[in-house]
Amino acid sequence: MTIMVTGGAGYIGSHTVAELLEHGEEVVVIDNLGLGHEEAVRALNVPFYHFDIRDRDALVHVMRSHTIESVVHFAAYSQVGESVRVPLTYYQNNVAGTAELLAAMVEAGVMRIVFSSTAATYGEPEAIPIGENHPKRPTNPYGETKLAIERMLYWCYSAYGMQSISLRYFNAAGAHPTLPIGEHHMHETHLIPLLLQTALGVRSHFTVFGNDYPTADGSCIRDYIHVMDLASAHRLALKRLRHRVVGAEAFNLGIGTGYSVFDVIHAARAVTKREIHYLVGERRSGDPAVLVASSDLAKVALKWEPKYQDLASIIESAWNWHLHHPDGFRD
Ligand code: UFG
Repeated sequence: MTIMVTGGAGYIGSHTVAELLEHGEEVVVIDNLGLGHEEAVRALNVPFYHFDIRDRDALVHVMRSHTIESVVHFAAYSQVGESVRVPLTYYQNNVAGTAELLAAMVEAGVMRIVFSSTAATYGEPEAIPIGENHPKRPTNPYGETKLAIERMLYWCYSAYGMQSISLRYFNAAGAHPTLPIGEHHMHETHLIPLLLQTALGVRSHFTVFGNDYPTADGSCIRDYIHVMDLASAHRLALKRLRHRVVGAEAFNLGIGTGYSVFDVIHAARAVTKREIHYLVGERRSGDPAVLVASSDLAKVALKWEPKYQDLASIIESAWNWHLHHPDGFRD
């Protein structure tokens, strides 16, 4: 029995594939390589199908020919700012794409799915740490599409008995400890890779988006979680789906500790032992001041325990990737 991973050539997808293979699972990857990297799939040495999840017939064919038992679904657009500029592209790719995937699963009789969701489903937090029952009022189309998919999964459970676990990640960072896979986005917007590229001299400086937030040092606070800890949560979610009837569940994944942008700059300087020049710029629109997860539910239900508990070890892991792959997969 095999697990289908959509978006398995992407950042969190490829690390999850590595984790599953390391635990003896059989995996096939589906990716349209719009954002993913063929090099990542090659490094994983896993059966790979290059097509879009909106191709329902192709999905059904792969599900039947590989006797797929469960799906782990990452394939999506995930840039908050871009989603505000081109919302329909996000609805077409994320929501319509997932509808095709779920229809293919129903057709092929595959009834278990782990879904890559996000903290962006909550919107501006009313209380910290954020628990799963926090009101869900996304402030951008990206979060809206992920929430719409979570609701779609609920209705697929109601109508077809499909079993799903949605995992709402906070800020993913870091890289695989040994394999040549890591974080590489065409247009990098994330804090830790931008800082490390600045340390490497790929960028002249880094811009802090606002120092006038109501936090101790005025910069935004986030909960950084190592990508291999996210990967292990997917593996444990699959295990839970195999052993229980869960309906449609959702769990937060974060460390539960918040770090400000300045904390991350200082930690990145300490890890890299290099200067990282920065300027303070305007706030980026749509950035909440503080996002910190409560992951207590995941710890109990999935028996998940994140291994990378401190910021320095997460940055060290990302640094190891960036140092050896300063141009990402283009090296
Ligand atoms: N930041 C800067 N300068 C930069 C880039 C980022 O100061 O050049 C700051 C941001 O303002 C934010 C923090 O660094 O406070 C982290 O920003 P990221 O862009 O790395 O991550 P986000 O918190 O914006 O986004 C993450 C995920 C999204 C998810 C979101 C949930 O990447 O997928 O959390 O709100 F939607």
